[in-house]
Amino acid sequence: CGIVGYVGHQRSLDVVLEGLRRLEYRGYDSAGIAVVADGRLATEKKAGKLANLTEAVSAHTADNGIALGRTGIGHTRWATHGAPNDRNAHPHTSMDGKIAVIHNGIIENFAHLRAELEAAGIELASDTDTECAAHLLAQAYATLDHLPVQSTPDSAGRLAEAMRLVCRRLEGAFTLLAVHADAPDVVVGARRNSPLVAGRGDGENFLASDVSAFIEHTREAVELGQDQVVEITPTDILVTDFFGVAVTPKEFHVDWDASAAEKGGYDYFMLKEIAEQPQAVADTLRGRLTDSGDLTLDEVRLTDQDLRDIDKIFVIACGTSYHAALVAKYAIEHWTRISVEVELASEFRYRDPVLDRSTLVIVISQSGETMDTLMALRHAKEQKARVLAISNTNGSTIPRESDAVLYTHAGPEVAVASTKAFLTQVVAVYLVGLLLAQVRGIKYADEVAAVVQQLQKMPEKISAVLATMEPVRELARDLASAQQVLFLGRHVGYPVALEGALKLKELAYMHAEGFAAGELKHGPISLIEAGTPVVITVPSPRGRAILHDKIVSNIQEVRARGARTIVIAEEGDEAVAPYADHMIRVPHTPTLLAPLVTTVPLQVLACEIAAARGHDVDQPRNLAKSVTVE
Ligand code: G6P
Repeated sequence: CGIVGYVGHQRSLDVVLEGLRRLEYRGYDSAGIAVVADGRLATEKKAGKLANLTEAVSAHTADNGIALGRTGIGHTRWATHGAPNDRNAHPHTSMDGKIAVIHNGIIENFAHLRAELEAAGIELASDTDTECAAHLLAQAYATLDHLPVQSTPDSAGRLAEAMRLVCRRLEGAFTLLAVHADAPDVVVGARRNSPLVAGRGDGENFLASDVSAFIEHTREAVELGQDQVVEITPTDILVTDFFGVAVTPKEFHVDWDASAAEKGGYDYFMLKEIAEQPQAVADTLRGRLTDSGDLTLDEVRLTDQDLRDIDKIFVIACGTSYHAALVAKYAIEHWTRISVEVELASEFRYRDPVLDRSTLVIVISQSGETMDTLMALRHAKEQKARVLAISNTNGSTIPRESDAVLYTHAGPEVAVASTKAFLTQVVAVYLVGLLLAQVRGIKYADEVAAVVQQLQKMPEKISAVLATMEPVRELARDLASAQQVLFLGRHVGYPVALEGALKLKELAYMHAEGFAAGELKHGPISLIEAGTPVVITVPSPRGRAILHDKIVSNIQEVRARGARTIVIAEEGDEAVAPYADHMIRVPHTPTLLAPLVTTVPLQVLACEIAAARGHDVDQPRNLAKSVTVE
């Protein structure tokens, strides 16, 4: 879900709706807003995308005061409890209509709280867990009539204190924002296991799930920690823990601006983000490789001795980030000879993995907020493993809770389907592998030095791939009516196949599967019918000959069974040409680095097939960019 809160001198309606627009990728099942104006609370909420809310609001601005207030909160929802209809959309209000609450996460003890509220004669208007929080807040607020409405640095304010009392009773994960009709210049927020960040403006302050919601107003942000309550007024951002003890939060400057989160002339964010990949990769490499080929990764915050002590690595992630983790295994094991296990966060968390102090757990998360990954991280830390986060989001929970962090510098990724974040994650795992190799003394010293040099050439190579995508667009229009598409690869081409298939599932809602090319004959080959499109990525013929030759055989196998072969191969690789119905050429790249070029045509393919099928490329059905529930 996406959350926005505002107090200041502007119309909160405008600021909140604009913030929601920028956060819509976090969920788009429903949207709602609450504004405090003239001692009244005006709310509006609608099922469906934000456009429905905007329309409803403009129809009502004249009569319900929503246009006037300078204090407001808004929400876009990714449904967990309760169907995505108007009734279950946020905000939820207290019975007297004075308090409005929005929420991201799941309040796990809500059944118990709901029963308690019902026993006290409160009629709940929705099926959501959130509504309980609104009623509990109203009850707590009523008991605090001795307090002033808003806090000062020395004294508690009524709404914030009520929030602290309520939070102490809630279990599970939540970001909550609340406003009160009698408190015109205050928004109160709280967070546990769910994202929230504050923005510091001039005579105005902001709260949001991530900085993109307020980036056009300010680039000065304030990190909020676990189990904290924040109260914003036009002039102050006051933070305490759930017991009222003041906290001095960490401030940070956002190093990108609002234009980075705009479409900038592209039809979709996804196309823009695909096009930004050379820059994103260059930015992620910048300052981390010296001219002599050495790595400098100060942010990793593990000593050389720590790195030498590691005898096992887990790489853990979800979704597209998991595919970056799979690439990591091939690279890190080869360069370092340390054993690497890769696991889905949601599986790792509920089993009994063998870890200890000399295990390095690398968690990969674009958003830094994925709940499955966060829980896996905590599971690893409980067993004393060291945790290194690879994340694209400064100040997010996963890097904050890790022992060390390596940020990818992809800039904001808005399209739900990840593209540039993936490529930068792959770069980041290479950097970690190379660092480990460097520190530990390495088997393939010459090769590692060559790889470092090759990495620096990757932005240029990705640009070269992007410049030749027109035939892929044409092919996409042709494939839009296919029943299914299969993807094959060997070695690092296998995670690339998985990623190509995931992109197509996410965006085009087509049956798509990625397979290890050698495994196909053990079952999935039966899926192939006359004309089934099969996309195969071929490793460099200048790498291990056996790998290349085996995949050429696999292409022949599927072709013999009627498949239509779409082959992604290096320029100059003529051995595969006779077996390719369509050839997509990429520049020569050492085998381990190939995912940085071979993934790109698959992204373009999925994006264009989805567009040809008339789907919303940036906001595919049922998905959300940042999933902060387990
Ligand atoms: C969601 C998104 C995916 C993403 C996954 C992991 O499911 O829809 O695109 O790969 O979360 O996200 P993370 O932010 O942890 O990388």
